[in-house]
Parts: sequence; structure tokens; C-alpha cells
Amino acid sequence: MSSIAIPALTSDLVRILIDADTIARRVNDLARQINTEYKDIDDKLILVGVLKGSFIFLADLCRKLEIPHEVDFISLSSYGNSDQSTGNVRMIMDTRENVEGKHVLIVEDILDSGYTLDYLCRNFTSRNVASLKTIVLLDKPDRRKVDVEIDYLGFAIPDVWVVGYGLDYAEKHRTLPYIAEMTPVTE
Ligand code: PRP
Repeated sequence: MSSIAIPALTSDLVRILIDADTIARRVNDLARQINTEYKDIDDKLILVGVLKGSFIFLADLCRKLEIPHEVDFISLSSYGNSDQSTGNVRMIMDTRENVEGKHVLIVEDILDSGYTLDYLCRNFTSRNVASLKTIVLLDKPDRRKVDVEIDYLGFAIPDVWVVGYGLDYAEKHRTLPYIAEMTPVTE
């Protein structure tokens, strides 16, 4: 039997904040909660992953769901080249399916200022969905600029830059199996 090596921390990574086993256990718990709360749903649940950061979280989460569901994606941008949200959220790619009348669960990797999720909640509400909930893997409450409701939360974390498990820094480190704290280096 082969074992998968845990990638070592590179010099720009400070420490592992949340290891892969802890993430997996939390994703299982969240899926169990969703399975229970949506068990009497009259239609499929539509999971809308917010690209790019949520793709690994979404992939793990949906494979633990036992309720009827479909996966769709949306792509937004608010950061440009900055590490702070501009608050000016732009839609780059909409969901493929029409979500009107559907039960929608927005899947986010991280909540920072809250501008992105706030935009999404307003946007989906205006599409007359049957129900709308949010699941967020990581929350940085200290960074919040706008109030948004999280229905399912993985972990609250301090205000440090994090990468791994879908999250990147300039497209680096997205595929690390853990969440690591990093020190952004400007070249
Ligand atoms: C990140 C993250 C959220 C958003 C949260 O996306 O995936 O969508 O920022 O920040 P906010 O609460 O301040 O709005 P990012 O723009 O970095 O794109 P990516 O997911 O493609 O890396």
C-alpha cells in the first residue's frame, strides 16, 4: 500500500493552520448537517461553487452528500491585483443552469470583507430562488466590512494570509492538502 506524502512547508509558508485530517472531519460534519437539514427537500439542492477558491472544498463536500443535488459554478472578482477587496464585485461567469425556483447553497472557500458573499446573496435572492443558504469553509471575522449570514461554517480563523485546499496566493499553493499561513513576498 502506498502512502501519500504531505507536501513540506516552503519558505513562504509560516505554519500549517488546519491540517488535512481536521479539514476532512469538519467537511464530514458539515455534510452530515446538510444531509439532515435538507432531507425532506422537494427538489434537488443546487450547490453553487464560487470559483476558483471553492473547487476543492466543493468537491469533497458534495461527495459526502446523500441528498439529491447538482453542482454549478459562478466566477466573480473583486480583488484585482490587490490583497484587499475593492468592494466592486464583478461577475465573470454565471451559473450554467437557471436557478429560479431552486434550492441554492452557495459554497465559498473564505469570507473576508464579505463583499463577495453579500453580492451573491443579493444576486441570487433577486432570481427568486426557492431557498438560499451559504456554506463557508473559512471565516476571518476581523476583516468584515459588510454583514453577511453564514449558515454553515467550517472554521473561524485569525486575520492572516492563508493558502491551500483551493486558496491561492497569486495562483500558488492552491493544491496543498492543508490550510497554511503564509507571508506574502513581494518580488
Ligand atoms: C476570494 C474568495 C472569496 C472572496 C472573499 O476570491 O474565494 O470569493 O475572495 O473575499 P471578500 O469576503 O473580501 O469578498 P478571490 O477574488 O481571491 O478569487 P479566487 O477564489 O479565484 O482565488
